[in-house]
Amino acid sequence: MAPTPSSPEITIVTGASRGIGLAIAHAFAALGHRLLLVARDGDRLGTAARAVAAAGAAAGAAIETFAVDLRDDAAPAAAVAAATRCFGAPTVVVDNAGTAPSDKIERTTPAMLHDTFALHVGAPLGFARACVPAMKAAGRGCLLHLASTAGLRGYPFTAAYTAAKHGMVGLARALHAELRPARIDVYALCPGFVDSDITRGAAAAIAARGGLTADEAFARMAAQNRIGRMHTPAEVAAAAVRLVRERPVGCVFELDRDPPAFVD
Ligand SMILES: NC(=O)c1ccc[n+]([C@@H]2O[C@H](COP(=O)([O-])OP(=O)(O)OC[C@H]3O[C@@H](n4cnc5c(N)ncnc54)[C@H](OP(=O)(O)O)[C@@H]3O)[C@@H](O)[C@H]2O)c1
Repeated sequence: MAPTPSSPEITIVTGASRGIGLAIAHAFAALGHRLLLVARDGDRLGTAARAVAAAGAAAGAAIETFAVDLRDDAAPAAAVAAATRCFGAPTVVVDNAGTAPSDKIERTTPAMLHDTFALHVGAPLGFARACVPAMKAAGRGCLLHLASTAGLRGYPFTAAYTAAKHGMVGLARALHAELRPARIDVYALCPGFVDSDITRGAAAAIAARGGLTADEAFARMAAQNRIGRMHTPAEVAAAAVRLVRERPVGCVFELDRDPPAFVD
């Protein structure tokens, strides 16, 4: 296990207003992290931040928010500057913000591909560029990409998302190889389908195309997980906490296995 840092971790969690990111924010707040929560919708982010702050108060957590669209190239550096003003240089970044466009290939446009890559690959690259100098100077740091089994294998009707998640996993592998000598740990955490707004939205989109109800589509997605059921956001958050606290050797950690394991 990595030595416990003498000062609290300064952690950015993107996509922290709901779903997996919100569960991760709660989990790190319970450990007393200084947290900058990032998403686009400032009102929803504020509501999330108040709940996280209340839950983390006993542990001494401190919570700030930064509302920004991470598809903008300048956004990661701006978020890192905000975290640094509030707490000091970030020691952990959880690149979790994501959308999952789903459609057949004939309707998958270059704009969808560009947007999805900007969020799932461009933003993590931007956070790494902005954070790594201070992490190198400190001799420690952690970059955690919330990837997916869609970054390891192909799923139908998700060409842009599957390609972007493969890009996110590839970026993590490259950063891991480059930054491990500098004692910066880089992980790609890969769950299968998780019960969240993205999944419920995908089930609704499938139902709208006809043939299945949203509940049937949801059940079919759950059945595609090797573990035979949906992951919960809390289960993904527990894996994120384990990686960030224990810093095991490895890079790509697949949650949709029994037991979960590094695949490389
Ligand atoms: N759900 C699954 O089955 C599943 C499985 C494997 C991996 N994942 C990955 O886990 C991550 C979180 O997914 P989730 O299921 O928790 O999704 P979710 O419930 O839809 O939450 C997505 C979060 O990302 C934020 N976000 C979306 N677009 C953004 C943008 N352009 N800039 C900044 N923030 C943005 C959202 O807030 P705003 O809309 O306010 O911006 C929200 O906080 C994603 O990267 C996803 O690919 C999900």
